[in-house]
Amino acid sequence: MDTRAAVQPGTGSEWAERAYEALAPVYDDFTAHHDYELWLGNLLPELRRHGLRGHRLLDVGCGTGKSFLPMLERGWEVTACDISPSMLELARAKTGDAVPLSVADMRELPVFGEFNLVWCLDDAVNYLLSGEELGEALSGMRANLAPGGLLMFDVNTLNSYRSFFAETELVERGGRKLVWKGQASADVEPGAINEAHFEAEAPGGGDSGVTAHVHRQRHFPEGEVREIIEGAGLECVDVFGHGYDAVLKQPVDELVHNKMVFISRRA
Ligand SMILES: C[S@@+](CC[C@H](N)C(=O)[O-])C[C@H]1O[C@@H](n2cnc3c(N)ncnc32)[C@H](O)[C@@H]1O
Repeated sequence: MDTRAAVQPGTGSEWAERAYEALAPVYDDFTAHHDYELWLGNLLPELRRHGLRGHRLLDVGCGTGKSFLPMLERGWEVTACDISPSMLELARAKTGDAVPLSVADMRELPVFGEFNLVWCLDDAVNYLLSGEELGEALSGMRANLAPGGLLMFDVNTLNSYRSFFAETELVERGGRKLVWKGQASADVEPGAINEAHFEAEAPGGGDSGVTAHVHRQRHFPEGEVREIIEGAGLECVDVFGHGYDAVLKQPVDELVHNKMVFISRRA
């Protein structure tokens, strides 16, 4: 059986929705090693240094809830949204009615309220395939900020596209194989759109139980992100780079760090 995902047309958001509808059942297994307590534990002091107040968080592209659970545990009131209903269903199974969850495309974000902190984590914005789409998303996030509120998001660096998106990674959990097959090359150019193919064995294994889908992400260089932040009526107050250890570094080195994290507020 040919398990390669068929190439289909569509905007970045359509690609993302298809990818996460397919990935949802195994997302938490595939990302089990992502340590949000460590990551957010390093970022929250920086947000406080920039004046973070209050206790209301909007998590955009919340997925299965991994990015907001540490804030619920800290007593924050959380509202969250994602483009994938299946990812949200898994978030709901973890939180019941504690978190209002909505299906929403971040390019056309509704105003859910006034939030002290709006964030969009774990390269969710890299699924937007143009600067224009990123600008629309950031404008929508800005519209959800309370006075003095902060916005934080991360993007994958060039190093991530030249490594993780160019390599094969196998994760075996719950008795099945999950395979990430990066299609990029080690000399990806800045701003390029990159693909990875993902295959998941059904429980019990066997070729007939393999499902496949495609992840499509665009690299956004630091300078371009800074311009888009400004164009969305925001002021960038800090940028950090970090590797898999989540230790925040400045200045960002796109050839060394895996992620860049941008903190901004209304201009
Ligand atoms: C890598 S996951 C991160 C999920 C979660 N923030 C976390 O840290 O586990 C990226 C998420 O972004 C969502 N996403 C991608 N494009 C989106 C869009 N245009 N609007 C809303 N959500 C989107 C996906 O459905 C997926 O749940």
